This record gives sequence, C-alpha cells and structure tokens, in this order.
Amino acid sequence: MPDVLLGPAKCLKGEVTPPSDKSISHRAIMLASLAKGKSEITNFLRSEDTMSTVNTFRALGVDIQENPGKGTFIVDGKGLDSLREAQGILDCGNSGTTMRMTSGILAGCPFMSILSGDGSLNNRPMKRIVKPLREMGATVLGRNDGEFPPLAISGGDLRPIIYKTPVPSAQAKSAVLLAGLFAEGTTEVLESARSRDHTERMLRSFGADVKVDAMKVSVIGRPELTGQPIDVPNDFSSAAFFIAAALLVEGSALTVRSVCLNPTRTGLLDVLKQMGADIEVVGMDAVSGEPVGDIHCKSSRLKGINVSGDAVLSFIDEFPVFCVLAAAAEGETVIRDAGELRVKESDRISAMAEGLRAMGVGVEEFVDGMAIKGISGARPFKGAPIHSHGDHRIAMSFSIAALIAEGETTIMDSDVVDVSFPGFYSTLEALVEA
Ligand code: S3P
Repeated sequence: MPDVLLGPAKCLKGEVTPPSDKSISHRAIMLASLAKGKSEITNFLRSEDTMSTVNTFRALGVDIQENPGKGTFIVDGKGLDSLREAQGILDCGNSGTTMRMTSGILAGCPFMSILSGDGSLNNRPMKRIVKPLREMGATVLGRNDGEFPPLAISGGDLRPIIYKTPVPSAQAKSAVLLAGLFAEGTTEVLESARSRDHTERMLRSFGADVKVDAMKVSVIGRPELTGQPIDVPNDFSSAAFFIAAALLVEGSALTVRSVCLNPTRTGLLDVLKQMGADIEVVGMDAVSGEPVGDIHCKSSRLKGINVSGDAVLSFIDEFPVFCVLAAAAEGETVIRDAGELRVKESDRISAMAEGLRAMGVGVEEFVDGMAIKGISGARPFKGAPIHSHGDHRIAMSFSIAALIAEGETTIMDSDVVDVSFPGFYSTLEALVEA
C-alpha cells in the first residue's frame, strides 16, 4: 500500500466541496432496499465503506443499479419482506455501520445470514446490537458469545422491545429501530445522550411512523415504506479536515460548500468557536430532510479547552483531527468521557497519542481520553513517519498536521482514506499553496 509524503503549506485559499455523507449514503441504500418502488439516490458517496453496503444488499437480492455518468444509484425495492438468503458470507469490509445496521434488518428476515469484516471490524464490539436483537427473538451467534464478528443471524418472527442502549450509539439505536420495522407493535430505544438521528429522519421520509421524545425514539412496526428520491448532502466529518487545515495554516481563508449541518453531528463547530476559531456558517438550506450550509473559516489562534460529557458524542468522529487542532493551540486540552474512541476503526486514543508524540507533542493518555500540551506558533510540529493503523481518519488527521510541521511527514498505508474519502489527497493538493 502506498505511503504519502507531505510537507508544510503556505496557505489554503478558495472553496472546496467535501464528499457526500457516509452515514446518510448507507441508510439510503438500506431503507430504499426495504421500500416498495424505485429510489433514485443522487450524490451518493462511492467509497469502500458504502460499497460494502451496496454489495451486501445486492447479495440479499436487491436490484441496485449504478449510473456512473450521473453519479447516482437506483434501488428498485420490493418491500419489507423481499430480501432473500445470500449464497455466501456478507462482507462488510471495514464498515461498522454496514454490519451493525444490516444485522438489525437481517434479524427480521426468516433466513440465515453470516456477516464478516476485515481484521479491524472483526475485533469491534457487537454485543450492543446482539443483545437487543436476541431479546427481540432473533438467533444471533458470534465469537465470544456474540461480542465479535463474524456474526451468524437466523431471523424472523420478532417482538417489539424497549431497549436502553449501554452507550449512546447511532448504529446500535438504528439496528434496533430497523429490527422494529419487522415486529408488530412499537419498538422503543432509550439513550443517555442523543446520537446522530439520520435514521429517524430518513425513516419518516420513507413513510414510517417514528416518534422522538427527548432521549426516547420509537417506531411502529410493519409500515409500508415507499421508494423516494434521496439527495445526499455533503459530509461534515470529511469537511472537518479542511476546516482544521484552514484554521491551522496561517493566512488561509476557505469556504467549505453544502455541508450537512445536522445538529447531532456538528459539536466540533461549537468547541472550535469556544477555542477562538474564526468560523461562520452561512446559506442554511434543507436537503432530503437534513440542514445544509456553507462554512467560511479563516486561520485562527486557538486556545486549549476541556471537553467531556454528552458533548463528546456530537463530534465523536472528528476527535482525531480535533487532537491535531488541540496540539497546535495555546495551553492544554483535556478530553474525557471519550472511551468509545478506543473501539472505532482503530484505537484512536492510542493512535493519536503515538502520532502526536512522534511529531513532538506532549500527550498523556487516559482510559477515556487524553491531555494534549499545545504548542503554538506557525510550525509547531516536526515531520515524522506516521502509522495510519489502517484507519482513514487517522491518516487524514496527520495529513493535516503535516501542513504545519517542520520538514516532511510520511503517512503509511495512506490509501485507507478510500474508506470514506476517495480523492482526499488530490483535493487537498488543489487547495494548498506550498
Ligand atoms: C455512525 C455512527 C457512529 C460513528 C460512525 C458512523 C453511523 O458510530 O462513529 O462513524 O453512521 O451511524 P457509533 O454508533 O458506534 O457511535
């Protein structure tokens, strides 16, 4: 796998349109597969993760056609009970969203399915979905009594449940809500904090009866879902790398276009503003039931901050790049209550601590977070070889750090960015004045 060599940047200027939203692209394929009629999905994210979902639902008998000229996917759904037993193992690749949410759907299907993934995914925790799906009546087997994939699911004949998630997780919540579509009656999920709500929004647009009451979400089973056009907005999590680059590299001014600004995802903006970032959101609109806007950002002097509690959830995927921002801020930043970072595509606490230390930053690791000693100045870091740990967001975060490092930085296994952002390096190169 190729390594990428990056050097310091003079500034970033102009505008950039980030790739389409990964979470919404997955959900669009899944719900369109359960609906009756055709759904045309425009601006679909064609990345490794989302293609794992496309190929999984194709293997389950769904007709999904790609129109590469237009960048659209057309799903010809045949309804809730139309999925068919796959002939082989369903390969979820690196994608936790594919495995956890598809498991919820397969729990409602009266046949046998086996889901497996790559080395990273097969070591990620699954009990959070296995437990409620078993409670609903599905037979679910996995290594270590269902904690780790591969998972074998024999579904059908589900009953509704009221489920309190052990950790707030949109994938776990969504798995239970999707299984709830197959059960007669009302299925409820209670969370201690509000995780991203794309599933709830999209289920409603397909015609399901979904209610949200503070931390409780419920769905009524056996709805008739109807095929819909879905225009996928652009991904805030991918936008975050450009926002960070513009804030960090002196003399930069950048506009990030048409970004999904769902409030369950944009906690990073609030924290950055508290740190002193010059960020402005303009031109708010709605696309497929999601708020969308442009983000103007200019290079800023940031101050360290403490982040903990429920706020952490609203920027859980942006923590790797947030750590880079904190490392270039004045003073210390302390991150707590972020233990979930240890079970993402890599252990993101230890991967970030290792890479930041290699670049000369003082980091103390905790079980649930870390303390980062910020180094302010134009070139606070020193270039270093960086392991991506097979994690797209680690590779992209250190690519941004490289822009303000003295000397050269090598990102190893850099093509892992294709999981969420094919073309990341060429997009970055086009923005950077070296
Ligand atoms: C996602 C939910 C989050 C997030 C992941 C995508 C989703 O995971 O980290 O990248 O699409 O629902 P958890 O549900 O594990 O918090």
